[in-house]
Amino acid sequence: MKISVTLSDLHDLNVDLLALAFSKSDLKKKAPKALAAAGISSSVLDDFKAGAGELMLLYPADGKLRAQRVALVGTGEGKTIDDWRKAAVEVASKAAALEVSSVAFDITGDRPGGKKGAGALAGAVAEGACFGNYRFERLKSGKLDKEPKKADAKKGMSSFTLRVEPALLGEAEKGAEAGRIVGEAQSMARDMINLPGNYLQAEDLSKIAVESGKKYGYAVTVLRKKEIEALKMGGLLAVNQGSTHPPTFTVMDYKPKGKARAVVALVGKGVTFDSGGISIKPSEGMGEMKSDMAGAAAVIGAVEAAARLALPVRVIGLVPSTDNMPDGSAQKPGDVITTYSGITVEVGNTDAEGRLILADALSYAKEKYSPDVLIDVATLTGACIVALGYRVAGIFSNSDTLAAEIGGAGELSGEKVWRLPLWDLYDEQIQSDVADLNNTGGRGAGTITAAKFLQKFTDGHKKWAHIDIAGPSFSSKGSLNIKGGTGFGVRLLVELMKQWK
Ligand code: BES
Ligand code: MN
Ligand code: ZN
Repeated sequence: MKISVTLSDLHDLNVDLLALAFSKSDLKKKAPKALAAAGISSSVLDDFKAGAGELMLLYPADGKLRAQRVALVGTGEGKTIDDWRKAAVEVASKAAALEVSSVAFDITGDRPGGKKGAGALAGAVAEGACFGNYRFERLKSGKLDKEPKKADAKKGMSSFTLRVEPALLGEAEKGAEAGRIVGEAQSMARDMINLPGNYLQAEDLSKIAVESGKKYGYAVTVLRKKEIEALKMGGLLAVNQGSTHPPTFTVMDYKPKGKARAVVALVGKGVTFDSGGISIKPSEGMGEMKSDMAGAAAVIGAVEAAARLALPVRVIGLVPSTDNMPDGSAQKPGDVITTYSGITVEVGNTDAEGRLILADALSYAKEKYSPDVLIDVATLTGACIVALGYRVAGIFSNSDTLAAEIGGAGELSGEKVWRLPLWDLYDEQIQSDVADLNNTGGRGAGTITAAKFLQKFTDGHKKWAHIDIAGPSFSSKGSLNIKGGTGFGVRLLVELMKQWK
């Protein structure tokens, strides 16, 4: 999708769909004028309340506008840039549903952040356009379709134009370009999440990272099974035991041109399918566990975006990957394994596999790169969904500063997080009689005991955070008009890294 910025008059925008965004407070003054310009009766305002994400499709009177359709879209209170991002998501999904190819979005007038915020707003709207336009159709053959699609439909929207005031053109152009990059990185992450287990194995995930590195100029190394064995990554190997596909451990390393302001290590859980292993999951909903590599997808997306945006930080992405399958040779409950760090773990439950592969990756990241900041992202626990639901990620950090930075990035990116505690009083739940730790913490506080487990493998790192994205990474109910992988974490991580200038 081409994203551009224009100064053109509203009347002259020759597009299939022109989006006009209004907050509740815009309804009295701004909306009637805009409607009059389109030759549309202001009585539509009896029905349009400018609620967040509300969209009304209208057809302008002949000769008034060159645009074929007008979408009134609500930004609710209209106070945050995420209100605008959400409006753009709605507009783009409507455009995709209508199979129209050119859309313009007017961002002139009052905005959150005032004039200074024009770049950020343009970026957020561009991100929203990519998000709403996203479709996962590569596994649809079209063989059973009765009606042929419109010519451009398969490609989705082909152009998205932002309308701004002349003084803000440069800022808006820069912002929109950055938004497109982040939006594309998020779509890439969503593709990976949506690909089922028979299409995306550890090797495939690594290949995607290698190709991204080649394309955008950063180094990618893939450790194969032999090297993983030589390194004694006992967590990753134990989870992989039941699999017919070899594990991989991918390391992406983006170095900025000048001196790096910080070294950030991002670790992503790359379980390409989680059956639970011998502690097998119930069959209902098990298919959604193709999304258990959403942490890995977020990390790959974030590294790619960092490289394309030329952020002044060094970003190391580490992705341990395997599926988790039952088999005669699979690990069993009660087994004791030795992780990369040398810490021994009793496997109380083979379905608590994410923490085993992340344990190795966290220790390796700390030892090999001594990063200033160490962050892991994982679809780690169902308990996090119980605690925070499907729209919000849980975060843990031993640094108040880092937790606050992630919280701020969550607000700006619209990928919200909520902090949970890391008190040592939870340690007793993950003690083992026979090994150093147990990988399960029993009933109660399942998200926290998982985080406490991970913390043991950070070797006292001073600025570590764990982000549990089990809830928001995959949408089965279709909130925000979407189903499947959301790419949650890409925008959050990029926004976070942008703060370290
Ligand atoms: N991948 C799951 C967590 C998950 C559940 C993510 C639902 C997304 C949606 C993880 O590997 C897992 O199975 N966790 C167990 C841990 C338990 C066995 C201690 C869980 O949450 O039940
Ligand atoms: Mn599991
Ligand atoms: Zn899992």
